[in-house]
Amino acid sequence: MNDEIIRLDSVSKTFDGVEEILHRVSLSIKKNEFFTLLGPSGCGKTTILRIIGGFETPSEGSVYFDGIDITNLPPNKRELNTVFQKYALFPHLNVFDNVAFGLAIKKTSKDIIEQKVERMLELVGLKGFGKRDVTSLSGGQQQRVAIARALVNEPKVLLLDEPLGALDAKLRKEMQNELKKIQKEVGITFIFVTHDQEEALSMSDTIVILNRGNIVQIGSPTDIYNEPENRFVAEFVGESNIVEGIMKKDYLVSFDGFDFECVDTGFKDNEEVEVVLRPEDIDITSPENAKITGVVKSIVFKGVHYEIRVETDKRTYIIHTTDYCDVDRQVGLSFGPEDIHVMYKDY
Ligand SMILES: Nc1ncnc2c1ncn2[C@@H]1O[C@H](COP(=O)(O)OP(=O)(O)O)[C@@H](O)[C@H]1O
Ligand SMILES: [Mg+2]
Repeated sequence: MNDEIIRLDSVSKTFDGVEEILHRVSLSIKKNEFFTLLGPSGCGKTTILRIIGGFETPSEGSVYFDGIDITNLPPNKRELNTVFQKYALFPHLNVFDNVAFGLAIKKTSKDIIEQKVERMLELVGLKGFGKRDVTSLSGGQQQRVAIARALVNEPKVLLLDEPLGALDAKLRKEMQNELKKIQKEVGITFIFVTHDQEEALSMSDTIVILNRGNIVQIGSPTDIYNEPENRFVAEFVGESNIVEGIMKKDYLVSFDGFDFECVDTGFKDNEEVEVVLRPEDIDITSPENAKITGVVKSIVFKGVHYEIRVETDKRTYIIHTTDYCDVDRQVGLSFGPEDIHVMYKDY
């Protein structure tokens, strides 16, 4: 594959010879891709990023950059740069000099530095801020300086470790859009770390979901949201109804005492499975028209949709719909074959 820029081949990591933190992680990252490592705190995201950056060495396995083995290459020889959550700007330098720092070290000529720094400041929306004191900037502006400072070196890959983690919700949303725009504009690979599923789903081309040092699933945001591989992914990427079931045969799954047509295949006949029904994929209907019926226990307006809880004799289902429905009413739950997502049980 010639559009691949980074490959991890069966990378494991043990610290102090005790506990293995990463277990045979294999990944292929493409040129120009917005690639996200998503998982709960402590699952190994930063360790993977540090291995790609060259700040840690794998205990086993190899790292390739443009097809060349860089497993033992020091960080400064790698064509990549890192942006951390803590911006680590130089407080005694102004915005311009912070961004220029890497170029000045390389003894780049003054004219070129001027050109490149001005271009970067414009790219991150800080045109005209060059003379400002970095300590006088807001958190979001400081993060933009950090991004400009990393990009000015023209890396082929930018590593970002929870770069928006320190920002408040509104600013965070703004910077998500901004970052995505910058990535498109510079046309390089971003490897982005976050534990925020919404952030990952809205920004990425490809997401890898990690759990305790293992890759659980790799795919596009839609793949991951619509076809979660197991309960861990389904719970991690969104609120869900997860129900134990039996895959009777291809295209037929049984749960809550009924058989349902589905679109899934490839399971063993009568295999125990778990079934995901996303709240927005279930409709409320009259009880006569549905297999699963229950009583409306609560209805809460969430801004765009209602969140309705329906209690059946087996469990409580969460439903998101724009239709209002009275509490205590007897209702049916309706969903089609394509709304049922069957997952493997063991993970
Ligand atoms: N230098 C280290 N020495 C020992 N254990 C470490 C070291 N760095 C990370 N770990 C452990 O590795 C696991 C994964 O850490 P990390 O990659 O930072 O996770 P994440 O970034 O997903 O929160 C954690 O249990 C952490 O305590
Ligand atoms: Mg981390």
